[in-house]
Amino acid sequence: MGHHETTIFTEISALAVRHDAVNLGQGFPDTDAALREAVAAALESGQNQYPPLSGRPDLLAAIAAHQRHWYGLEVDPASQVLVTVGATEAVAATILAFCEPGDEVVMFAPFYDAYAGVVDLAGAVRRTCPLAFPDFAVDEDALRAAFTDRTRLVLLNTPHNPTGKVFSRPELELIARLAVEHDAWVVTDEVYEHLTFGVPHVPIATLPGMAERTLTVSSAGKTFSVTGWKVGWVTGPAPAVAAVAAVKQYLTFGAGGPFQAGVAAGLGLPDETFHSLRDALQAKRDLLVDALTSLGLPVAVPAGTYFVVADMAPLGVTDALALARELPARAGVAAIPVTVFHDDPDADPTLLRFAFCKRDDVLREGARRLSRLLG
Ligand SMILES: Cc1ncc(COP(=O)(O)O)c(C=O)c1O
Repeated sequence: MGHHETTIFTEISALAVRHDAVNLGQGFPDTDAALREAVAAALESGQNQYPPLSGRPDLLAAIAAHQRHWYGLEVDPASQVLVTVGATEAVAATILAFCEPGDEVVMFAPFYDAYAGVVDLAGAVRRTCPLAFPDFAVDEDALRAAFTDRTRLVLLNTPHNPTGKVFSRPELELIARLAVEHDAWVVTDEVYEHLTFGVPHVPIATLPGMAERTLTVSSAGKTFSVTGWKVGWVTGPAPAVAAVAAVKQYLTFGAGGPFQAGVAAGLGLPDETFHSLRDALQAKRDLLVDALTSLGLPVAVPAGTYFVVADMAPLGVTDALALARELPARAGVAAIPVTVFHDDPDADPTLLRFAFCKRDDVLREGARRLSRLLG
């Protein structure tokens, strides 16, 4: 896939603009949180040069404090934390640092689209374990079958894009057991860590024996609704973080000094701020899930993330990719076909992913337009 789905995202967003469609396709929110003052202060006081390779010291300290406060994970800010250009660079630099050509990466399909490109770039090989609509549960035999003696990494994503699944503790324990058995590292993308609805987010690094073989990736974009800032990070054992930094220095070195200051301020906000951002998003999830359900569409109610997957099969849809191309013009709505999150072009042919990180009036208008189409 790689290039294929980048085209689809760009194409659907362009169609959305052309047809003045309600864009429930790409996951960018249209509200933002109150970290701007810290960015403005850094900017106005002239902190506009290269930040250090590993990140601003105030942000490194804030990330370490965040891991301790929320999860009881101890990481040394000086050696076990690396600030990156979004979670995207953290995942890319980690895979490039760890994988030699022919190494295998165990992943769950569907998967966030950027993963495929960087696994390809490293010359590594994807081994996927399917997650099936509507519960997206991990099948132990399927997961076991994805591991071989060439397994180098497990690339986990919880809460999971595009399904909205939050991996359960028993599922994480199974992944951990298999990783240990095959002496594999785990790279876990937890960008939606604060956006779970009624279920806890469990970092796999908190499981016994896992901190020493896990690189945990996150980002400010989703937590604080600042996706354009692209401030992410990776934490883990010092030698592994150093290996990732060695790759990162030749990718970007660093970026966004003033934004790093904003995120440092954000991570230190009281728990209630995180909870209220989550609660606001949960209400939006409920709004969109109710709307899709009342249209007669089976949905997988997401336990986290920005996204809900709905099955269009009851409408006679057999090709959600074709439908996604038509929807902006026909209904004035944009959504993403789940097929593009797979290597197999025939996988999940009837599923669409809708984003609910939008203003309520935008969500309601999207639902109205869909019901007009279906009614
Ligand atoms: C699972 C996942 N990882 C990473 C990202 C990108 O994170 P960032 O913008 O911090 O690079 C996204 C954004 O959609 C995502 O859904």
